[in-house]
Amino acid sequence: MPYGGQEQQLRGWSKKKLEYLRSYIVAYCKATTKSLKRFYIDGFAGPGKLPDEDSGEMVDGSPLIALKAEPRFTLCHFVEKDKATCEKLRNNTRGYDNARIWEGDCNEWIPIILQTISRASPTLAVLDPTGVIGQVKWATIRTIAQWKTEIILNLPYHMAVRRLLPNDPSLLSPDRATQLGEYLPPGWQAVYYDTARGRRNLLCRKLLELYRDQLKSLGYTDVFASAVFRTEHNLPLYYLIWAGRHPVGVRIARHVFLEQFDPRVRLLDVDDDEWLAF
Ligand SMILES: C[S@@+](CC[C@H](N)C(=O)[O-])C[C@H]1O[C@@H](n2cnc3c(N)ncnc32)[C@H](O)[C@@H]1O
Repeated sequence: MPYGGQEQQLRGWSKKKLEYLRSYIVAYCKATTKSLKRFYIDGFAGPGKLPDEDSGEMVDGSPLIALKAEPRFTLCHFVEKDKATCEKLRNNTRGYDNARIWEGDCNEWIPIILQTISRASPTLAVLDPTGVIGQVKWATIRTIAQWKTEIILNLPYHMAVRRLLPNDPSLLSPDRATQLGEYLPPGWQAVYYDTARGRRNLLCRKLLELYRDQLKSLGYTDVFASAVFRTEHNLPLYYLIWAGRHPVGVRIARHVFLEQFDPRVRLLDVDDDEWLAF
């Protein structure tokens, strides 16, 4: 879990993730200065501020990073399922008149929120789940793609996806397979069955490629992935995936995802043995 247990705390890899988000969001707002309106949707908002595990200081989470960006978002929509976390978010965003908080499941709220946004307005959707089942459905991503959106998606491959897919595909129950079908991109079963037996180390790469291909089939021209985020003990956790189609967004994402943070960061298209090292 990125924040560990009920008391969400910022660990090293979560801080790094927030730096990716901050870099992208700050540049995104500057790049959309000429647009009359710009919107932000955070499907998994969290409490807004989190204690740094090392210093104990409160650090801005994705909602506060978005609210502080200039020129400011016309509206920032925050969806949070957990009631108590939502209450913290309300307290932490008090005073920002462009904050809107929706308590509940983002798969239900995001299509409703999108109806209030013009399809011509630049909109950034950040989807930062900790797991798979009960989190972001592929149908929600498909709906988001119908607006002028860019997506930053946390793909918790090692934390969640991999654990839900047994090495022996015959051990995956039909009920679980049906459930996973709501959350993973179309085609995941073929990839899983093809790579599970004896080629398990390819599964991660093949699933990332599937995300890329399915996001492209929704109209996003460019899809980048970060290097894998790891714990202090070097255990792999998740990737951040960026999808967009505006040339300026592509330029910013290329900088943030491929140059700024980690020289090992790769374009998904690059053929690299590092993908096989999981
Ligand atoms: C990783 S935290 C988000 C952290 C936040 N993005 C940040 O950087 O500050 C994930 C949050 O999503 C919430 N959550 C889980 N499933 C959800 C769902 N289906 N819809 C909305 N929120 C959900 C959890 O309660 C948790 O607070």
